Amino acid sequence: MPNKPEIVVCDGVEDLSVKAADAFVKTAATAVSEKDMFTVALSGGNTPLSLYRLLATDAYIKRVDWKKVHFFWGDERCVAPGHPDSNFTSAYVALLARLVIPEGNIHRIRGEMGDAAATLYEEELKTFFKLGQGMPPPAPAIPEFDLMLLGMGADGHTASIFPGTVAVAEDKRLVMAVYVQRLKAMRITLTPPVIKGAKNIVFLVAGDDKKDALLNCIKGEFKPYAFPAQITRFSKGAVTWFVDRLI
Ligand code: 6PG
Repeated sequence: MPNKPEIVVCDGVEDLSVKAADAFVKTAATAVSEKDMFTVALSGGNTPLSLYRLLATDAYIKRVDWKKVHFFWGDERCVAPGHPDSNFTSAYVALLARLVIPEGNIHRIRGEMGDAAATLYEEELKTFFKLGQGMPPPAPAIPEFDLMLLGMGADGHTASIFPGTVAVAEDKRLVMAVYVQRLKAMRITLTPPVIKGAKNIVFLVAGDDKKDALLNCIKGEFKPYAFPAQITRFSKGAVTWFVDRLI
């Protein structure tokens, strides 16, 4: 049964970032109080950067117990850290560089290794989330992120799950390397089962160019091959869309 997402209409990217930062702080506090840890998969792209920068300001930086936060990424480009296209580097410059956290809390996708990065990251997820372990069986096979931050492209993609690609239908692997014809580039991405397995999914979407995709992804006929962000309609947890317009 599809879930019913919460749609939060914001007055531009700044307001969207404040609302998303408040949600981040609240979700982190709940997770830390329950299990002394908070796992978040950061989104790539530009929209979340103002959120990341806001979280590093005096107004927010003291409101999260950062030592308890484990940072992952929803996807990564196949470039080295430091490359301008690197989602890790964008988040590091905007937020992580300002935090005092153990190095082991940063779980970077090693995009520079190409396909191999997917296998390595999948192993890292299995180890960190103790997948397949624990009694009584069946032990969890899918990681449960406390928060999955996602963007959406004007074509309805999310993470690096692009329209018409095999990633849309992937239901076994946790992480995969995908060649995106439109970009003529390889990407590493969490797969639909991992995205849908998060306790909380938060979309951050702004821009006139996304108007049509937004309407289709939230209200349109279920056609995930055309609008991959629709996969979150069948997520386990709560889905919230922070958007810059009424839809
Ligand atoms: C990426 C992202 C991607 C992004 C959307 C929206 O690596 O680019 O994971 O899914 O969130 O393309 O990007 P903008 O926020 O820049 O519009």
